[in-house]
Amino acid sequence: MDQRRSKWRTAAVAVLITAGVLVPPAAQAQHVRKDDGLALTPPMGFNNWNSTHCRDEFDEAMVKGIADLFVAKGLKDAGYQYVNIDDCWALPDRDGGGDLVPDPARFPNGIKHVADYVHGKGLKFGLYTSAGTKTCDSDGFPGGLDHEEQDARLFASWGVDYLKYDNCNNQGVDARYRYTKMRDALEATGREIVFSICEWGENKPWEWARDVGHLWRTTGDISDSWDSMLSIAKRNMELDRHAGPGHWNDPDMLEVGNGGMTDVEYRSHFSLWAIMAAPLLIGSDLRKATPETFAILENREVIAVDQDALGVQGKVVRNDGGTHVLVKPLSGGDRAVLLFNENDSPVTTSVTAAELGLGNATGYRVRDLWAKTTTHTAGSITAALPPHGSAMFRVSAANDWYRYPPAVTTAASGELLYPGALPIAPPGRSVTYTTSVTNDGRLPVSGVRARLGVPRGWTAKATTPSSTAVLSGQKAFTTTWQVQVPADAVEGRFPIEASFTFHSPNERAPVHRKHSVEAYVPGAAPKGDQFVSDLKWLRGTNGWGPVEVDATNGETAAGDGGPITIRGTVFAKGLGTHAPAQIEYYTGGNCSAVTATVGIDDRKADPASLVSYEVWADGRLVHDSGPVTATDAARPLAADVSQAVVVRLVVRDGGNGNAYDHADWGDLRITCRSA
Ligand code: GLA
Repeated sequence: MDQRRSKWRTAAVAVLITAGVLVPPAAQAQHVRKDDGLALTPPMGFNNWNSTHCRDEFDEAMVKGIADLFVAKGLKDAGYQYVNIDDCWALPDRDGGGDLVPDPARFPNGIKHVADYVHGKGLKFGLYTSAGTKTCDSDGFPGGLDHEEQDARLFASWGVDYLKYDNCNNQGVDARYRYTKMRDALEATGREIVFSICEWGENKPWEWARDVGHLWRTTGDISDSWDSMLSIAKRNMELDRHAGPGHWNDPDMLEVGNGGMTDVEYRSHFSLWAIMAAPLLIGSDLRKATPETFAILENREVIAVDQDALGVQGKVVRNDGGTHVLVKPLSGGDRAVLLFNENDSPVTTSVTAAELGLGNATGYRVRDLWAKTTTHTAGSITAALPPHGSAMFRVSAANDWYRYPPAVTTAASGELLYPGALPIAPPGRSVTYTTSVTNDGRLPVSGVRARLGVPRGWTAKATTPSSTAVLSGQKAFTTTWQVQVPADAVEGRFPIEASFTFHSPNERAPVHRKHSVEAYVPGAAPKGDQFVSDLKWLRGTNGWGPVEVDATNGETAAGDGGPITIRGTVFAKGLGTHAPAQIEYYTGGNCSAVTATVGIDDRKADPASLVSYEVWADGRLVHDSGPVTATDAARPLAADVSQAVVVRLVVRDGGNGNAYDHADWGDLRITCRSA
């Protein structure tokens, strides 16, 4: 969470307003937005912020270049419409008449000139300012607070079609008042302007902004990382019932193509946004984008899910330990479904037609929106999801299901200590792998055969049959394999390659499939008594900046926290974390106890600080601190981790959002056998 912002001041003014001490004028007007027919489907377009922030490459040439590419690359035809610019387009001061002034270095011909250029391409143009005295960037420009009418008139005169209205420097003035005032000012211009509320979900806009804006941010800013995208997606998923035509939840702009995630992760990001009926605002500089980026952004079948006329945000129908199933009803009766795996290990999962709300048809047509295949199923839909991966389908009840081959899913996995665990394969051990072929169709497939390839020096032996002549519909064929890891295997990740062949009734050639899964060979288990902060972790994730070793967690930069300090006591050794955090250590069954003194760090102690600490021994919860606040005394922690192959240290947000959740683990020790 961004902690630069003064939410306490905002809250104080809100209290005064609620108590009737301050009465915002716009709230008295009883104005209810007429249904203006704008943004009946989620807005699609571009915004420069995620790729350029305020750097120099944000200028007239960029805006024109993006508009050109929207046309040349078919993005306009695919539905992308708005070319929007963000913070830093204006000078730090208004002119003598009180108007905002475009920065002549970036926009030498003014804003109307670029808006005209964008309009000339048959596209629409969007602009940004803040519902405060200044925008967010430190070199920002004057915001719209108390200048709403003048700024709205100026924007309309330039031909602005979309306004993103931010929240910085809001002087604690009530959000509803500030955003309603700009809504009224935009309406008074007589121009159709999509109004994008950007108050980061701080005042629950989904509860009041339906008649104020066409979309509202539900979270803080996205950044180009898996953890950021995931946490935002998970928050936005919970708000599905508030979205609809003309009033959308906005989980922030796309990061697809910016380089901080893999293409598998970017496909999940794009699929999540589409199933959640989120605005699709491209956030990468398309002038430098790869063909893979264009292929994701231009997937018209996924876009069609986002833009479906029914305008329903997909709902989470299931979440099993990080395997999410989201379903979105579509106009005409089809359902879109997203199977999404947030974990670092592969997972195979299914959903039924009943869960999709599709009743009791004899057969269903299943269109895979990424693989671009069409199959039939008797009712179940299965997908093998790679780590961080997803599968997205459009499912229709179909009388002619038999025209399509049966939906066959092939998968491979190693035994896991707990959902989402690394596939640990210690040297000298035999580890179980499973391959499966699942036929969800009504017709049989034949000649099914599975193989498992292992690294040189390793062996794999099937302990159950690895081939079958016929696999009937609605049946799965599973093979169990014992994989022997050599005693001298070195620490690292190794590929285990599963391959499959089978014959499908509607296809002449045999079908071949391949899946690569991992074996993770750990280093030596710790010996004797150790400070945990001296050990190398298997994996560590943290809710704000990195996990800090022998220091507290400060802001997002590494090493910026200072010494661990809980209620005045300084700890030389330990970990500095921030909820939500998880740090995993390989202990190989060699250790017995974890001890620490835990608490919120003195430097960041705040009324909003609320966490709980957990210790897990493989899949077993062996310590739960319960709620810990910034005024609680430093608390002793002791956990029995006997037998554990992996010990996990977890910090959870206490349920009030993760602001100021700087959780220290002082004097964190582990006791292990010395041999
Ligand atoms: C805020 C917004 C971002 C971006 C920046 C610009 O952080 O949430 O989306 O507009 O301001 O400074």
